[in-house]
Amino acid sequence: MNICIIGTGYVGLVTGACLAEFGMNLVCIDSEKEKIERLKGGHIPIFEPGLEDLLKKNVGQGRLRFSTEIKDGVTSSLVIFITVGTPPNEDGSSDLRQVERVAREVARYMNGYKVIVLKSTVPIGTSRRVKEIIRSHQSEPIHFDVVCNPEYQREGSAIEDFMRPDRVTIGAETEQAVAIMKDVYSPLYLNETPFVMTNFETAEMIKYASNAFLATKVTFINEIANLCEKVGADVHHVARAMGLDGRIGRKFLHPGPGFGGSCFPKDTRALVAMAKEKREHLGVVHAVIEANDRQKMKMVGKVREMVGDLNGRTVGILGLSFKPNTDDIRESPAIVIIQELQREGAKVRAYDPVAMDAAKVVLKKVKFCSDPYETVLDCDALVLVTEWNEFRHLELSRIKQNLKEPVFIDLRNVYEPSQMKSLGFRYCGIGR
Ligand code: UDX
Repeated sequence: MNICIIGTGYVGLVTGACLAEFGMNLVCIDSEKEKIERLKGGHIPIFEPGLEDLLKKNVGQGRLRFSTEIKDGVTSSLVIFITVGTPPNEDGSSDLRQVERVAREVARYMNGYKVIVLKSTVPIGTSRRVKEIIRSHQSEPIHFDVVCNPEYQREGSAIEDFMRPDRVTIGAETEQAVAIMKDVYSPLYLNETPFVMTNFETAEMIKYASNAFLATKVTFINEIANLCEKVGADVHHVARAMGLDGRIGRKFLHPGPGFGGSCFPKDTRALVAMAKEKREHLGVVHAVIEANDRQKMKMVGKVREMVGDLNGRTVGILGLSFKPNTDDIRESPAIVIIQELQREGAKVRAYDPVAMDAAKVVLKKVKFCSDPYETVLDCDALVLVTEWNEFRHLELSRIKQNLKEPVFIDLRNVYEPSQMKSLGFRYCGIGR
């Protein structure tokens, strides 16, 4: 089957690479010439474990190519995935201009029956709107179907999530479209991955509801962790015991400095904005957004509690990306924490295995270091913000030696409080 992907961002590249791996013929389109040239040269613009190898392998085997010509992609493909960006507007709603532009172009070049698949996270009602845009921009009536097929890929494990998903959601209006989507995902269908077949609006809602629920789970345990600190409880035991209840589940109950990234913050705000438009109040999601903002600021309070007045003090930061295995710093707690520390007069030294280039663009006056041991030199405290694997096995004696004061603030509970105390650190984690 010939498939075209329009938009070679995060979702587009992962989808393209994985579908080519499933044996489909892929052409990945982007209007940015320079990006396509770099991709043709084997340069991947994002950091995602396994993606480069998978792209190279499938390009090498002739199943995947890159192009700037949307006409080429549309005319040669039966299935067209739209994976362009839907960035947030000021009020939290999504900017759909790229999706709409692509829909108009697809309509213009349509030369036979096509299935147009929306994979970008789009506000409820967008699939229907895209269908209307295509219909009204065709030069002659040609039969087509629109499908809403939201992605559930986590950055850092996107390929695994694509290849072994918990479910595939298909919002469609015709049996023909459903049958073609089953073909696209045939390896998953044969593996008995659950498929949820439904209408456009439900498919769109499933994505928002899933992300908002996960964001709620994280925020819930963060607030419980904050209370644990005050009452002498250990949040790890609380989360474990809660998670053993099958109705609750163990995942996404790890406390931390607040969620970040390109999805949870954006999708929760977009959901609240959509509800507001329909005069519905999503009180829980609203509270989650506020509590998450508070959580990031609370982390600065933890540093202040351990160090005292921050003015003129030096703080070392380990981890800048919003989570490990990505260079994405969007809405990263580390960035918010650093900016607030600086506002209170602290000097900041920082290290991240891959996100420093991205961080340099948004952070001023930070001393970027080449490893954790250089980072902590002469620091009054070390704050571990992102749980990269290389921070799980630090040479703690070297860290302590390099620090001016042996203060270790562990915002991901990587280390054991009792062990850290016995090593002579003044240590605090979250909720323990
Ligand atoms: C998320 C969804 O998981 C994915 O299905 C969707 O398609 C895109 O959004 P992603 O943003 O890549 O994926 O990251 P995820 O692993 O879900 O983590 C989101 C945030 O929650 C991170 O900041 C992470 O540090 C935080 N988190 C997650 C916690 O603080 N505790 C947890 O237990 C889990």
